[in-house]
Amino acid sequence: MRPYEGYVYAYPHKTAYRPLDPRPPLKEVWTGERTDALFLYLHVPFCEMRCGFCNLFTRTGAPGELVAAYLDALRRQADVTREALPSGTRFAAAAIGGGTPTYLEAAELARLLDLAEQAMGADFSVVPLAIETSPATATPDRLAVLAGRGTRRVSIGVQSFIDAEARAALRPQRRAEVETALAAIREAAFPTLNIDLIYGIDGQTPDSWRHSLDAALAWRPEEIYLYPLYVRPLTGLDRHGRAWDDQRLSLYRQGRDHLLAAGYEQVSMRMFRLPGTDAGTEYSCQHDGMVGLGCGARSYTTRLHYSFEYAVGVRHVRAIIDEFVALPRAEFAFANTGFALDDAERRRRHLIQSLLQADGLDRAAYKERFGTDVLADFPLDAFAERGWVEDDATHVRLTPHGLAYSDAIGPALFSGRVHALMDTYDAR
Ligand SMILES: C[S@@+](CC[C@H](N)C(=O)[O-])C[C@H]1O[C@@H](n2cnc3c(N)ncnc32)[C@H](O)[C@@H]1O
Ligand code: SF4
Repeated sequence: MRPYEGYVYAYPHKTAYRPLDPRPPLKEVWTGERTDALFLYLHVPFCEMRCGFCNLFTRTGAPGELVAAYLDALRRQADVTREALPSGTRFAAAAIGGGTPTYLEAAELARLLDLAEQAMGADFSVVPLAIETSPATATPDRLAVLAGRGTRRVSIGVQSFIDAEARAALRPQRRAEVETALAAIREAAFPTLNIDLIYGIDGQTPDSWRHSLDAALAWRPEEIYLYPLYVRPLTGLDRHGRAWDDQRLSLYRQGRDHLLAAGYEQVSMRMFRLPGTDAGTEYSCQHDGMVGLGCGARSYTTRLHYSFEYAVGVRHVRAIIDEFVALPRAEFAFANTGFALDDAERRRRHLIQSLLQADGLDRAAYKERFGTDVLADFPLDAFAERGWVEDDATHVRLTPHGLAYSDAIGPALFSGRVHALMDTYDAR
């Protein structure tokens, strides 16, 4: 089995969503759901550059008027969504993602935080907030707004500390700018700094990878994510083949061993964390609901995952954002496109999202939720035979070898229905 089938950060993937007809009102969608510990996600679909590898929903060069119109639309969406949520709704954690949320200027960021607090009732002095940033946009004035409002975690995409590698990944970036941004983030004293690095870039070697790892470690970030490079249709790079798989696997092992030796613990294939780091911005994704605001944000209830339309290609992203900012209030009262989860899909989701964490799946928790033993529902013998999965009385978990193959194991656990939907998704 090839090691890099796909990054499973959520199940089912958004390409398994389809237009909902009729569109269910949000009020109906949220009725009967537990809403006392929701996750709030705000999506900012803007960046100052379009990196060659990136397949996130984002556009470059948005003018100030578009940003303002987007914030207006978010406010309408927040108001309507809040009205649809049951009384007693509370948020346990929040994140602002992108794109690059700090593409917004300081005053725009303040407006964004205001609307989350005022319209959604998420008080960031209590609700842990995480935000993503990039080297060019992590400026002291923006960071001051975020720090002043109690942001707990700032995650910066660095990808590589070597300018030539960043360029090879079609990400114009200078080391000096990266170091200035990291200094500004540390200066602003957020409790948690995360640095994203990518391995498998054209021209990257064990030595150059080590150089980037050490340059990141010099900042002693509370968290580090190591991402294997993926190139997908509609992004600007093209790499493939066995040799590339082998390169990524060997750089993965090197990176993992290096971070473990530096005192980090492994949380999942990609994520490493210093012991004792406040994990306050995490919530239990197996159980809890998520309210997403913004044109690329997903929302989860136990029965339905939904979002607006999804696209990667430049023209479609622009069109969807333009459409989003023009929507009147009433249009925000419905779920547009999505995937309905039955009991079998809920079990599968719980399995996938737990198994891909280094701690593994807690068998008693699964049994309490679903009434059955997980291995009776999902025999994992084929993975066990490969030495990827092991189990004892309390847990089912990936072995170190299995963690390296997370991106093969996750997709192999998708249901036939999800595979079929993803295969027939019309990429644009
Ligand atoms: C929203 S971005 C981070 C914030 C900011 N936009 C930036 O790029 O600096 C999320 C992260 O996902 C990772 N990523 C995105 N696309 C990827 C791909 N095709 N292959 C590997 N990693 C990818 C990158 O490490 C990136 O930093
Ligand atoms: S990697 Fe970050 S900055 Fe680059 S296009 Fe993707 S979201 Fe934007």
